[in-house]
Amino acid sequence: MSARLEVGVIGLGVMGQRMLARLEGHARLQATQVWDADPHAVARTLAAYPRLKAAANAEALIATPGLASLYIATPPAPHMALSNRAFDAGLAVLCEKPLTVDVAAARQAIARIAREGQRAAVNFSLASSAGLAAMQAALQPGPQGALGTLQAGRIELAFAAWPRPWQAAAGAWLSERAEGGFTREVLSHFIFVLQRLLGPATVRASTPVYPADGRGAETALSAQLEAGGVPVSIEARVGGDADDVNRMTLQGSAGEIELRNWFGVYRRRAGADWDSLGDPAELRTRGQVDQLTQWVALIDGEPHGLPGFAEALAVQETIEALLNPSVTGHGLR
Ligand SMILES: NC(=O)c1ccc[n+]([C@@H]2O[C@H](COP(=O)([O-])OP(=O)(O)OC[C@H]3O[C@@H](n4cnc5c(N)ncnc54)[C@H](O)[C@@H]3O)[C@@H](O)[C@H]2O)c1
Repeated sequence: MSARLEVGVIGLGVMGQRMLARLEGHARLQATQVWDADPHAVARTLAAYPRLKAAANAEALIATPGLASLYIATPPAPHMALSNRAFDAGLAVLCEKPLTVDVAAARQAIARIAREGQRAAVNFSLASSAGLAAMQAALQPGPQGALGTLQAGRIELAFAAWPRPWQAAAGAWLSERAEGGFTREVLSHFIFVLQRLLGPATVRASTPVYPADGRGAETALSAQLEAGGVPVSIEARVGGDADDVNRMTLQGSAGEIELRNWFGVYRRRAGADWDSLGDPAELRTRGQVDQLTQWVALIDGEPHGLPGFAEALAVQETIEALLNPSVTGHGLR
């Protein structure tokens, strides 16, 4: 039987808790060590999972003998420093997205990963989704592919409030312009899918709307991208009645395929009705189980489908170009 893989978790907020719950009872991955800069978060976690051990600090956690991997679920700012410390200790790193807002630090980490053969991936949950696989299949040339010639892409997001209710307990960073906002938090997942399918996207035009206080995250974003020669439009805003609306559509000469509300996948031939590829809740569960399988493969040094740091940085560069069109000269006029 394959050996148990001990995992340390740094960052015990909304995402850290979700990952701890998913790891419960996993055949190979077992969370053993935790740490958070907030002692209350550590105390809450130990109360819920008495079996876990709290480290004295991040350095002590990373140095724990027997650890195989570090999962980083802090806000973006410490992601690179924690990753580098984990590489120093020979740990495989699974880091939350967004990779970082410090592009220079990310480039150094990427060079180091390549130079030293470090194992590192970023947690884009759609990487192990049936939706991504279905889109990849639909884009195949020949009878397998259902789309014909790809003509356009569309991404639409709407949130009744930002942050969304399930993230209400997250830190203030999530609603601030420096590190948070729905473009980094949510749109990044769909830019990841787009770029995995079609290669690097170029921002043709972007209009983010920011609150007047100069501090709050964007409240709307309209943009045009081009990826693989295909125009892709983005419409996203805080507004409407639903907590979390997201939809990504690829339209071809012979049909369309769509991701809806994360894990739902729908297809139709031109002129026909939409067909669901499965119950979204089941597809979500399957994706989450598969994500852990991929993480095991990362630790074991085997091939896996999780995005590496370079792929995640390419997503982040597109995201930051969308958020800062005055810097990149892509503002809509
Ligand atoms: N993959 C996904 O689907 C998904 C979903 C939600 C959030 N995220 C990402 O996960 C990360 C965490 O988000 P969250 O919603 O859990 O945020 P959160 O604010 O709920 O939790 C962050 C935790 O990190 C701790 N922390 C902050 N700085 C730290 C440091 N230097 N060292 C140790 N702990 C530190 C905070 O005390 C807090 O407990 C973010 O990067 C976010 O974008 C990913």
